[in-house]
Amino acid sequence: MKIFLDTANIKEILQYAFVIDGVTTNPTLMSQEKTGYNIREHIAEIARIVNGPISVETMSQTAPEIVREAEELATISPNVVIKIPMNEAGLQAAKILSAKKIKTNVTLIFSANQAFLAAKAGATYASIFVGRLDDIGHDGIDVVRDTIEIYRQHDFSTELITASVRHPLHVINAAKAGSHVITIPPKVLSLMFRHNLTDAGLKKFCDDWAQLAKNQGPGL
Ligand code: G3P
Repeated sequence: MKIFLDTANIKEILQYAFVIDGVTTNPTLMSQEKTGYNIREHIAEIARIVNGPISVETMSQTAPEIVREAEELATISPNVVIKIPMNEAGLQAAKILSAKKIKTNVTLIFSANQAFLAAKAGATYASIFVGRLDDIGHDGIDVVRDTIEIYRQHDFSTELITASVRHPLHVINAAKAGSHVITIPPKVLSLMFRHNLTDAGLKKFCDDWAQLAKNQGPGL
């Protein structure tokens, strides 16, 4: 299972570059970068750090406009993947872009039927927002599980991205459900490295080593 980092923040991308396979951004994440940057240059900078897919969202509303915007965004780097909203215009555009060999990530997917249609349109990736489903009392991972079953059964090449991840248990459950990719916010990724027993164990090793050094006296 591939790990993408769900952020547009350069510092966070640099921090976790060693463990990630790609990056996903969205308009909200881009808007949190307060430095008054040039969006095109910002994406190019991410592409220089990460040698993998970088999702960038289109804001156009009609299929021809989405295609035009996607073609323009795709010139930034061969690794740019065009994030397209899950609706009729979006899937029309995804189909055209797939024929043009431009990679797409159909986003804001909340049901297995939507994920099925995204695959039929030839999307490279389909992003299921598990956290937002959980927020309204559904089980987002159920949608991941159903979609993986459909994709496997019918041999779709579309890769499922588990998105809207809120906690480390989402990562474990997405992996168990067979998700191809999970896009993880830096805060959740940082929690995955940690365990209190690891911290306590390391502290004890350090303390014991220091004690040993003291007992040996000078000359160690
Ligand atoms: O990449 C989009 C997605 O992960 C959004 O997450 O937390 O805003 O639901 P969230």
